[in-house]
Amino acid sequence: MDASQPAPATSVSVEHVTELNRLDLDDLCDATDAAIVDGNGFGWLTPQPRDQMERYWKGVLLVPERLLWIGRLDGSVAASAQLQLPPRFNEAQAHCPQLTTHFVAPWARGHGLAAGLLEAVEEYCGQQGYTHLRLDVRCTQARAIEVYEDHGFTRWGELPSYAKIDGKLVTGYFYVKDLTAG
Ligand SMILES: CC(C)(COP(=O)(O)OP(=O)(O)OC[C@H]1O[C@@H](n2cnc3c(N)ncnc32)[C@H](O)[C@@H]1OP(=O)(O)O)[C@@H](O)C(=O)NCCC(=O)NCCS
Repeated sequence: MDASQPAPATSVSVEHVTELNRLDLDDLCDATDAAIVDGNGFGWLTPQPRDQMERYWKGVLLVPERLLWIGRLDGSVAASAQLQLPPRFNEAQAHCPQLTTHFVAPWARGHGLAAGLLEAVEEYCGQQGYTHLRLDVRCTQARAIEVYEDHGFTRWGELPSYAKIDGKLVTGYFYVKDLTAG
């Protein structure tokens, strides 16, 4: 690159998707693999075979109660978040969906993608009339915990047997946000 030229600006964007083209699916699988290898957060503990990973993401798009957001850094899919809607036949909990599998590939962190995804999901929830949003996270996910607490989530509980990593139990933290509280 010509050193006299300014570095290109980094573009960050977030979108709610109902389908993924070949390139975006590949990028999302790559981003997921990178997050798993980094060892922080995604439900899988080891990278999955590519065909299985693709089936997972295609499955997400097929489940009516799961909504998918992706985050792009300079056009490439580098992050995602899902919203698990309340069970259709549970009127008592119809106000409160769950944020899940919220992650940014390690190479794309520090550009506001996590915050952008969270804000897009919250905006959707507000538009749909949901009043609360919940999530849970391993106690070891320090950065994620910081992001959620900065965004107004309140920790309401802990579960010492939340996850098992390398044979050791890891505590989970449970959070909720009142979306009506300004
Ligand atoms: C949790 C996780 C998503 C946070 O990613 P992140 O890159 O740190 O968060 P963001 O993408 O919002 O980036 C925020 C940082 O980008 C920087 N930034 C640059 N441009 C920005 C912008 N336009 N808007 C906001 N922040 C911006 C800021 O420095 C900010 O840091 P600060 O909040 O200390 O000021 C990421 O660490 C991760 O994927 N972890 C593993 C998965 C996980 O734990 N998920 C949660 C449970 S499922």
